[in-house]
Amino acid sequence: MELILVRPGHGEEKRLEQVLLFALASFCVERTIREAEALARAAFRGELKGRRILFAVGLGRSGINLALFAMLEALRLHPGCLEGSVAGILVDGESEYDTKAVGRVIAQTANGAGCWFVGRPLAEGTGSLQNYRVAAANDHCSLYEAYLQAARDMAERVAAFKRPSWERPKLLCVHSCNPSTSNTLRLWQEVKKGLGERLAVREISLRGGMIPDCAGCPYEMCMYYSRNSSCFYGGPIVEEVYPALEECNGLMLLCPNYNDALGANLTAFINRLTALFRKRPFTDKCLFALIVSGYSGGDIVARQLIGGLNMNKSFILPGNFSLTETANLPGSILEVPDIRRKAGDFAENVLSAMGVSGNARKQK
Ligand SMILES: Cc1cc2nc3c(=O)[nH]c(=O)nc-3n(C[C@H](O)[C@H](O)[C@H](O)COP(=O)(O)O)c2cc1C
Repeated sequence: MELILVRPGHGEEKRLEQVLLFALASFCVERTIREAEALARAAFRGELKGRRILFAVGLGRSGINLALFAMLEALRLHPGCLEGSVAGILVDGESEYDTKAVGRVIAQTANGAGCWFVGRPLAEGTGSLQNYRVAAANDHCSLYEAYLQAARDMAERVAAFKRPSWERPKLLCVHSCNPSTSNTLRLWQEVKKGLGERLAVREISLRGGMIPDCAGCPYEMCMYYSRNSSCFYGGPIVEEVYPALEECNGLMLLCPNYNDALGANLTAFINRLTALFRKRPFTDKCLFALIVSGYSGGDIVARQLIGGLNMNKSFILPGNFSLTETANLPGSILEVPDIRRKAGDFAENVLSAMGVSGNARKQK
């Protein structure tokens, strides 16, 4: 399998070098791009579309790779330049910080340029590699060997990924919005109009019930509940949300920005997915989101979703997975310029990501 290696900067990070050698042993690296100018040129010429891409970033002692940020700028200035591409990310650091945060920014930027990410697309090496403590214990190997294996596994999943397609996909929409005031819910109604009949849409509101957060049960106890598709707390998450989630092909989250984060009910919902995830990862389900902020910060909420649901809980991240808007007063989302067209375009994107073509939808 051929892939493009995007490796910002000219650092000779020894550990990253070795991990790449191991992870890509069976791959043909058709091209390595190390400078933003080269990336911008390739983006401009359309050479990054429909490819398999590995972003490999060394963060050194500072946790900052300036060349990476020049590359992210190049991607942001060339909308659509990664359309149809599928990517994974390898981030290697010398400190305990930044690997996850940098991975999320790369995923968010590339996704905004149309790139898909497989579930669990990030292999990260913190300075101490303590992030591989559990994996190394499970596999009876060293931390470093667990890191090598994680990087190779990720690269192989990127290579093997096939875009899903369903006859009549099922989309589960989960939210906790106030039906009489929420801009996010109003935006969803516009998107839903564009989805038409070729998707089976089911909506679940978490607003009515109290959703206790994950209790953090011991692993064995969580596994015990997990085997029965259950969880220590039971309630609507287990009775209604788990079965709907098991059945669906895509998850649409409606996310008002609450203090630059997801609201408490949605956060609890994601944490409570742990038991179900242990039984069956979500690697065959697509993630979508509508994010509305009163002022600013929708990008932060998007990164929270990418980290929690794509990187941790292994949902597929289709290109341009979210529509992010700003509106404050109730109903004012409809005053955002061009909002109905944007909602329609986003609906088309959801349909196409789930294998339902827009034309087919219109012909019906
Ligand atoms: C508890 C709370 C916290 C909020 N925090 C933020 C914030 O940090 N940044 C922001 O831009 N808007 C913030 N907002 C405003 C909402 O994002 C805004 O009302 C937007 O329309 C989405 O919410 P809605 O779907 O409930 O209307 C907050 C609203 C509430 C109720």
